[in-house]
Amino acid sequence: MSYILGIDIGTSGTKTVLFKEDGTPVSSATYEYPLYTPQNGYAEQDPLDWWNATVNGIKSVLSQSNVPAEEIKGIGLSGQMHGLVMLDAENNVIRNSIIWCDQRTSAEVNEITEKVGAKRIVEITANPAITGFTAAKILWVKNNEPENYEKTRHILLPKDYIRFMLTGEYATEVSDASGMQLLDIPKRQWSDEVLTKLGIDKSLLAKVYESPEITGTLTKQVAELTGLAESTIVVGGAGDNAAAAVGTGVVEDGKAFTTIGSSGVVFAHTDNIAIDPKGRVHTFCCAVPNAWHVMGVTQSAGLSLKWFRDNLAWGEMETSLNMGVDPYYIMDKQAERVPIGANRLLYLPYLNGERTPHLDPNARGVFFGLSTMHKKSDMLRAVMEGVSYSLRDCVEVMAEMGISVNDMMATGGGGSSPLWRQMLADLYSCQVKTTLNKEGPALGVALLAAVGAGIYDSVQEACKEVIKPDKIQDPIAENSAEYDKVYRMYTKLYPAMKQSFEELSKI
Ligand code: XUL
Repeated sequence: MSYILGIDIGTSGTKTVLFKEDGTPVSSATYEYPLYTPQNGYAEQDPLDWWNATVNGIKSVLSQSNVPAEEIKGIGLSGQMHGLVMLDAENNVIRNSIIWCDQRTSAEVNEITEKVGAKRIVEITANPAITGFTAAKILWVKNNEPENYEKTRHILLPKDYIRFMLTGEYATEVSDASGMQLLDIPKRQWSDEVLTKLGIDKSLLAKVYESPEITGTLTKQVAELTGLAESTIVVGGAGDNAAAAVGTGVVEDGKAFTTIGSSGVVFAHTDNIAIDPKGRVHTFCCAVPNAWHVMGVTQSAGLSLKWFRDNLAWGEMETSLNMGVDPYYIMDKQAERVPIGANRLLYLPYLNGERTPHLDPNARGVFFGLSTMHKKSDMLRAVMEGVSYSLRDCVEVMAEMGISVNDMMATGGGGSSPLWRQMLADLYSCQVKTTLNKEGPALGVALLAAVGAGIYDSVQEACKEVIKPDKIQDPIAENSAEYDKVYRMYTKLYPAMKQSFEELSKI
């Protein structure tokens, strides 16, 4: 029997899972670490925390399983995208990593748009300049901490720093590199034009591989430290969303998934590159060689419900504690009793600005239509519906681009709510399914490692063998008609408030 290891370097923690070659999880361990917010809008992490969590995770899954090291054929790495890790000549981390949700780079976003050109940046990197992407973070360090920039010899993404620590190789792969805004997305290689115009030396960047390709093997020291064999291969792996796609079998045209985690993502596979000229959705290379994906992002999806839980649902939290159930289960039950449209109450989920479709950091959350008749349960339902409308916005943009979705998987914490999945099925007017395999990105990159190790011939074959469907929810035509009325109202609210959001940000 062969085994494969998937390591997902997330924002709250690193999850390491050992799988049998057929995708059955054998043992799993998660180690958490802090997120630092030195100023409003800043978000940083210490790469050494990721490394310690990885080493502890590997040791833990090995000790829980007793699988001989030689039978572990490969490692796949997944992780939070966009984070900036800078190493000096001795490979020391120069400063904390500025991670994906950091918003300090508005000036650098303008600089990128000016230097590369608004149209050209979309043509090459398939996205307009975005605060969260790595290029803007690199320029921020160049502009604000020139002494740190001077010392920099290598620039890596979070999971690629872990790869460097495991193998000694400076390598990345196309899906995660897509989020740096330095990759020519159609050509799947660094863009000399963007690098030259931004004054970033190409030698600082890692070698780009396809996701299932072998990027190296473990160093002797790492083998001794973790108990793994030195011959274990490490494949390219993938950014967290591209990895989740493999972990849910979204690897061919027509297939898509929706994640409701802190943020919400609608991800659709496409064999032919499709770019939204307005930049409302991201187009990135995907983990299947020579294919791409289009991805819409709702900044505050699960985060909206968490915000509601933490600030307004204390009673529900107490009840859940007494009953020994998850507070979200109680909240789901309450929202279920409220009719579609929450008695004419709407919620815009723009707590932290919005990416798709508005690309507006100034947008903020709104309850619209509050009346004395409304109860907390109406507000709760409105929050879940508002997030679902925002995800429908993503699907609408994709439809405009000619990407049709007929097979939608649901993942993430919110994807485990039957009510939320039904809302999505009704709003998308298509089936929404879950998979029996719950390990998402960790499984996705473990399968990439299995392909790299020759256990499967292709990513598609690995998914066909391993990913098994679970629950299916069908759209209900009467519900779809009801939601459509409210959704049409929802789409009118942001344009009416756009100007006011900007004014509010200046008060
Ligand atoms: C993708 C994105 C997030 C991060 C963190 O563009 O910003 O999904 O990868 O999970």
